[in-house]
Amino acid sequence: MIASRLAAPEPGWTTRADVVVVGSGIAGLTAALRLYGQVGRILVVTKDVLDAGSTQWAQGGIAAALGPGDTPAQHERDTLVAGAGACDREAVRVLVHEGPEAVRELISWGAVFDQQDGVLSLTREGGHHRDRIAHAGGDATGAEIQRALIAAVDRAPEIEVIQHALAVDLVPAADGGVAGVTLHVLGEGQVDGVGRVLCRAVVLASGGLGQVFSQTTNPAVATGDGMALALRAGATLRDLEFVQFHPTVMWLGEQSQGQQPLISEAVRGEGAVLVDGEGRRIMEGVHPLEDLAPRDVVAKAITRRMHETGMPHVWLDARHLGPAFWERRFPTILATARSHGVDPVTELVPVAPAQHYASGGVATDLWGRADVAGLYATGEVACSGVHGANRLASNSLLEGLVFSRRIAEVLPGELRPWSEPVADRRAAGLVPGAVRRRLQEVMTDRVGVLRSEKGLDSALADLDVLAEEVGHEPGPDAWEATNLVTVSRALAAAASLREETRGSHWRDDHPDRDDAAWAGHVDLVLAHGVPSATFHPAPATDGGAA
Ligand code: SIN
Repeated sequence: MIASRLAAPEPGWTTRADVVVVGSGIAGLTAALRLYGQVGRILVVTKDVLDAGSTQWAQGGIAAALGPGDTPAQHERDTLVAGAGACDREAVRVLVHEGPEAVRELISWGAVFDQQDGVLSLTREGGHHRDRIAHAGGDATGAEIQRALIAAVDRAPEIEVIQHALAVDLVPAADGGVAGVTLHVLGEGQVDGVGRVLCRAVVLASGGLGQVFSQTTNPAVATGDGMALALRAGATLRDLEFVQFHPTVMWLGEQSQGQQPLISEAVRGEGAVLVDGEGRRIMEGVHPLEDLAPRDVVAKAITRRMHETGMPHVWLDARHLGPAFWERRFPTILATARSHGVDPVTELVPVAPAQHYASGGVATDLWGRADVAGLYATGEVACSGVHGANRLASNSLLEGLVFSRRIAEVLPGELRPWSEPVADRRAAGLVPGAVRRRLQEVMTDRVGVLRSEKGLDSALADLDVLAEEVGHEPGPDAWEATNLVTVSRALAAAASLREETRGSHWRDDHPDRDDAAWAGHVDLVLAHGVPSATFHPAPATDGGAA
């Protein structure tokens, strides 16, 4: 049984804000900056410090049709093909048409992108047929965007920020909508411990769920808190089975756990190639775009080769780039690889797929609205429909920008009246922090890159056993572990329901894409303590397979 409320001490303090933004990456800070001046008090809460989320780690860049000869229509086409028939066409149109303007606004807020001869320098990544990825600091795009957004928030003193604040649960109103949010703050001032913010709207921008797997490119904060909180509040999650595994994550050994170093796809965009232990090219003949095929295609080809050769990794060969190019274009990756004892200038880099991105999340409409009144979601926590079954490289930062701007367009005009919170009668429970490791093993082994009915059934049974270990003391470890169990259980239920292979969802017992039976979405709601998955047909949205 999944807890429908996290057990927590009674709130020791109460404050009010018109809008609470949960999360401080590109999606959260863009929402706050765009809402600024349009609503009363805006409170941004973030689980760690402002720059601890996934945005900071984004390397490759942000995709938008900004280059000569490129158009939103071409970007749309590449996004739909990568999404393997599961994108929402309207959402993709919004993304690609509003994207260029959103990136220009980001630049006007102070983000400095790399230029060549006075024009934006654009590169290419997997699945793109044009150079359309704007980047900063070579391979430090996310860090630059995060820096610029924090500086912009600093210049907007009416945006208040509470750091080290974990959003525990939504506070329900009598109509089932949002009356507030409970927080646990590790603070030193007036707000400390568990308290509540009464509010008229909550914008969830809390990022992904990478920590449900043993190896991920996501930082430690990515424990699926926002998705779990939304599910408990009655919101629908969508397409959770579409988890993207990045093909080239540096392999640090069998025992390495948690956040692993990403080797950006942009390195392949500059000509690096994947080879096996005998030096044979992996992507040759597999796809017309070879090493720049969409991510799911490359991750699958690598996994197959690893199975054939019995090796736990393959190799990335980028030696031809030379020292000067490496230092200028990929300084962060170069330094990280060297810190792990591999010099990509002279050596092959061991790489293997690892969890990278949740394409699904809290189901939203084209304006970021979830199906709980007063709840909005944007960025990785959300499923706006733009990514389908496989996110196109560098579309994630763009999604956060575009849909946060959209939320800020509608939210001020539809702010709910202040609601009285009602007594929360949902069943509370918590599992111990110690389940985390066991859960990650189950998810990695049986709900990871390659899935089957047998593996998913046994994973669901094991996750149910972990979910029964309730009764533990409230605290950040138990709250995060309970969120991890909740989203893992939901993800495994969705993966089990979808009996086909599509994009990043790979079933070895159903190896083909099946548009006749499975074009559409898997929605999840919490019903009597169990995430219940239902399939909703929708027309497939591309002209063919990737
Ligand atoms: C990368 O740089 O390869 C990652 C970019 C992304 O996930 O979009």
